[in-house]
Amino acid sequence: MEGEVVWVVERKEYHPVENLVYETIFTLANGYLSLRGREEFSNLTMKGSYVAGIFDKYLAQVTELVNLPDPLGFKIYLDNKELNLDYLPLTKYYRYLDMKQGILNSLYEFNVEGKIIRIESRRFVSRPNIHRFGIQYTITPVNFSGKIVVENCIDTTTYNGYLDPHNKIQHYRVLRVEDLKPGVSASVKTHDKGHIIVLANAILAKDHKGENVLRYRKFRQIGDIPQEGYTIFLTEGQQVVIEKYGVVYTSRDLESEKLKDKDVVDFVREKVENELNNFIRTGFESELKAHTEHMESVWKRMDILIDGDELAQQGIRFNLFHLYACAPDDQRVSIGARGLHGEGYKGHVFWDTEIFMFPFFLYTLPEYAKNLLLYRYNTLDGARKNAQMNGYKGAQFPWESADDGLEVTPKWGEDYLGNPVRIWTGDEEFHINADIAVALVHYHSVTGDDQFMVDYGVEVLLETGRFWASRLEYNEIKDRYEIRRVIGPDEFHEHVDNNVYTNYLAKWNLEKAVEYYEWLSEKDPIKLEKLKTILGITEKEVRSWKTLAEKVYIPRKEGEKLIEQFEGYFGLKEYEITEWDENGLPKWPKGLDLTKLGETKLIKQPDVVMLLLVLPEEFTEEEMKVNYEYYEKRTMHKSSLSPSMYSIMGLKVGDTHNAYKYFMKTLLVDLEDNQGNTNNGFHAASAGGAWQCVVYGFGGMTLESDKLLNFSPWLPEKWQSVNFKINYRGIPLDVLIKKDSIQITSPSEVELKIKGERKIVKPGENIFRL
Ligand code: BGC
Repeated sequence: MEGEVVWVVERKEYHPVENLVYETIFTLANGYLSLRGREEFSNLTMKGSYVAGIFDKYLAQVTELVNLPDPLGFKIYLDNKELNLDYLPLTKYYRYLDMKQGILNSLYEFNVEGKIIRIESRRFVSRPNIHRFGIQYTITPVNFSGKIVVENCIDTTTYNGYLDPHNKIQHYRVLRVEDLKPGVSASVKTHDKGHIIVLANAILAKDHKGENVLRYRKFRQIGDIPQEGYTIFLTEGQQVVIEKYGVVYTSRDLESEKLKDKDVVDFVREKVENELNNFIRTGFESELKAHTEHMESVWKRMDILIDGDELAQQGIRFNLFHLYACAPDDQRVSIGARGLHGEGYKGHVFWDTEIFMFPFFLYTLPEYAKNLLLYRYNTLDGARKNAQMNGYKGAQFPWESADDGLEVTPKWGEDYLGNPVRIWTGDEEFHINADIAVALVHYHSVTGDDQFMVDYGVEVLLETGRFWASRLEYNEIKDRYEIRRVIGPDEFHEHVDNNVYTNYLAKWNLEKAVEYYEWLSEKDPIKLEKLKTILGITEKEVRSWKTLAEKVYIPRKEGEKLIEQFEGYFGLKEYEITEWDENGLPKWPKGLDLTKLGETKLIKQPDVVMLLLVLPEEFTEEEMKVNYEYYEKRTMHKSSLSPSMYSIMGLKVGDTHNAYKYFMKTLLVDLEDNQGNTNNGFHAASAGGAWQCVVYGFGGMTLESDKLLNFSPWLPEKWQSVNFKINYRGIPLDVLIKKDSIQITSPSEVELKIKGERKIVKPGENIFRL
């Protein structure tokens, strides 16, 4: 089962039209630095390198993740002809991502007027040393002896907006480019925020005896592009190995270090030069070894094995690989909707992180779950400003977030027909606040990390609780609190009143704020007093939230299982979905006016169903079934967040056929490009949804209200077994599910449930019959 095939993603043929999608698929990142998997021997690429947390606005519509200078620049000339995939005949081409080791491998064989030259390369972005990346090129002159020229450079002409040409923008200006003798470097500064970014790289090259082969070095600066060129003499059949060492640092990384009297630019430059020297001293192979060992240890904690379904096996690993590639070691950054893999959604962070990606981290790599929550804590000040600017109290987390918690959702975009359209999500999609609260409480229940709640969690709950209290509107006639003019998870319907997802979660957030206030008064009364002082909060205020919560209007009718998404939804126009596209996703019904989606019952993605998944303990299985059946028929899946949730809910209510179909749509969203926009980045929320499908869906894992894990699995016919890891209260559990049994291996005793029945898991292997 552990065949190597399921560890790789291949590109077997070169068609330039596919370049951008493959660049996303082959992106390598380490939570800090990201290099799109672009072909260095093609001009038909979108150069994209990013550092998490480096945002800038300048003349852009909103703050965005900055596309940095491209450090991948490397050219080879044979007989003064540039080896270029786009116009030279290729006798061999093969590229593959080795997910097990985190290496991108390439093989090219060019035919330059009868001379065959082979280039094999290995690229990695180091995880143990996040400022480093390396590439190794092995060059073989297959049927000739002669000379080549190689060129190493850093391209400082990159910009944001390759896929949005009207809004192209370069977010940095070049401060200086340098000859590092050997090596080249570029120092740039972003316009608004003044971040300094310094990139440097150098190449070394050896023949088969280990002797240097680089000759006639020349440094030059073309515009602001630093380049170093060398001549290499090749002998037929004999390989030459070139190693490229790359390093990136930014002023943001060094904020905590003492500058003394140094200029910031010099400080970062020095750091980069030292790191480059250290990297060269370590050597390419040793760094690569440390990196692959690291990857191996992480796979031991996060891998999922699916026996009997190679495509699913490959797909799930692909999603986990890229989720981990985004996991930040820095508590000032989170994960954008499109990861670090492109410019889709401008690098912004949405509820995607807390509701879709977070469970994966929480149950496998909890240290990253904690970092993601700390990002919200560290951006609380921005969230407080949002609340203040909008006339509310407490903290209002932005629908789209960048580096400081201020709202960065663009105000204008385009509708499905390309017309300019006002985007209201930043003004109205309030549920993000409660989504963050859900993740916090989930974190606490699973890890039992009280100190985290004392130091950070309770403050966020109180501030979001306070926000909701000020956001509620009292309806005197009906004596209830309402939330009018909102957007729920389904964004087809704007300015709606009493969206059930929003209202339910607001109520829940208020209740949790009160509960955790009380919890803190027991746990650490001094901390609570401090918090009360800092926040200017009183016991009376907090207690009043209880009454508010009781009176939050939930649009549900007594005795009716079907829940209305928002007030008035049931009165909207009905359109039946009757056709599906080649990806199996619904086509727009005929005769529909796409500018008036809000007048129909069609929805973009689950909304009521989402609520049933986020707070499952609040609803019965029958309610789940009724709502799933009703809303599934009306869902257009115009968000990649949608299919995974229907897969999980389908499994809960017995729709196993569709569950597998939706799972595969989720898994393959990027590998098949089934949303048609993989060129602009990786679908990180969908990847988190894929993990949830396996564990919550097929594994049937739920966290019950008594905080015990329960497993009620169901496996697709062709799956012999599925195996995943769960970290529960610091205990790493290995869960192996077969059709008729569950095997749980644990290092210590733990209590859990199998199909609702309490069981004691003893240290070692435990087999439970299903
Ligand atoms: C979805 C949102 C999501 C955002 C970013 C939108 O299309 O409707 O739910 O947060 O994309 O992925």
